[in-house]
Amino acid sequence: MRRSGNRALARWALALLGCASIAASPLPHVRLIPLSRTTWDSVYTLNQAARGETTYTKVCSRCHRAALGGGDESPPLAGSTFLANWNDLSVFDLHDRIRTTMPPDTVGAITKEGITDVIAHILKANGFPAGAADLPTDSTLKEIAIKSARP
Ligand code: HEC
Repeated sequence: MRRSGNRALARWALALLGCASIAASPLPHVRLIPLSRTTWDSVYTLNQAARGETTYTKVCSRCHRAALGGGDESPPLAGSTFLANWNDLSVFDLHDRIRTTMPPDTVGAITKEGITDVIAHILKANGFPAGAADLPTDSTLKEIAIKSARP
């Protein structure tokens, strides 16, 4: 009886230690579960990217520039710096970042669908392949990882 009690206690201690080490992790974006798809899996359509380009040109390009190279204070949205910033994060993270902070002077100006279309344009500009289905706007975006290099 006593022994099994001790064992149960030891298991608790181990479980607590496990939680503590996860909570204390120094990396802000640690993912414990691998995402099922990546931006290399043809996750948007060319039509969607074209819609996104129209919105981008109206709302984003005055700062991030037509070729997405950035300018002045505005960072690039295409190329190695952008991809290094977002590598291993999800498309949802990028969507959320845009939805809550961009454009800085009129946050909320674009619908969720509109932002998803702009992301299709950004993916195209970064050389990711297009496919047969639109990038969705629901929580499945959390399952698509941005990968700078083809896996
Ligand atoms: C008025 C200028 C301006 C406009 C318009 C604007 N942005 Fe930005 N954007 C910035 C600035 C400045 C930053 C960096 C500072 C910050 O994060 O607020 C930034 C940062 C970003 C980032 C983060 C980049 C990274 O690698 O960390 C993304 C993504 C982004 N913008 C997307 C967009 C999109 C999409 C639009 C159009 C819907 C847009 N922005 C419109 C100025 C702008």
